[in-house]
Amino acid sequence: MAPVDWRQAWKTGVTPWDAGASPPALRGLLDRGAVPGGRVLVPGCGTGYDLATLAREDREVVGIDLSDDARTAFLAEHPSLPGSVVYEVTDFFSYAPARGFDFVWDYTFFCALDPDQRSAWSQTMKRLVEPAGVLATLLFPFEDPISDRAGPPWPINTEMVRSYVEDAFEELDTAEVAHTHPGREGKERLALWRRREP
Ligand SMILES: C[S@@+](CC[C@H](N)C(=O)[O-])C[C@H]1O[C@@H](n2cnc3c(N)ncnc32)[C@H](O)[C@@H]1O
Repeated sequence: MAPVDWRQAWKTGVTPWDAGASPPALRGLLDRGAVPGGRVLVPGCGTGYDLATLAREDREVVGIDLSDDARTAFLAEHPSLPGSVVYEVTDFFSYAPARGFDFVWDYTFFCALDPDQRSAWSQTMKRLVEPAGVLATLLFPFEDPISDRAGPPWPINTEMVRSYVEDAFEELDTAEVAHTHPGREGKERLALWRRREP
């Protein structure tokens, strides 16, 4: 299967993954105080709903995506937000900020990558998450056992993601998700991982 041309998808408006809002699970995490202040990263942030949801006076929120068009849509929708919110058009795998992050939110990013990019995803997360920082993965589309259906989105589950992070992250919590976007019911799990001291 040919790799997805993400920039072209955004340019032509063929973005079936775009649910038009943040997933309820992110609101749930915020409501229970599980997202710290400080530096927060959203890789593959698309239209950036999650940047707006995470924006708070004591946070530096950074969204990254390959698409200029997605960034333009984000800026048009959110001319002003609390705290610092920056949307960078850059490649996650080569992104090298001056400082790491206290919290990283991955929703529909890992599952969008080709399977042969997963090791690089893992290496990059290890580089970007500060010691004691948290990587939050909202796993969609969750399947257990995983079928051989080709993506994106590629079916994923906790065991699979664990295999990519367990050498550098401790598992904090894994939970079923009660509230999802319509059509994604039963297909999401939330898994939180804390970066160990190197
Ligand atoms: C399935 S979409 C999900 C977008 C958003 N998280 C959402 O839920 O609406 C995956 C996103 O990852 C972006 N992307 C894919 N590969 C990337 C890379 N290497 N670096 C940065 N962004 C990337 C795509 O442009 C796309 O916006």
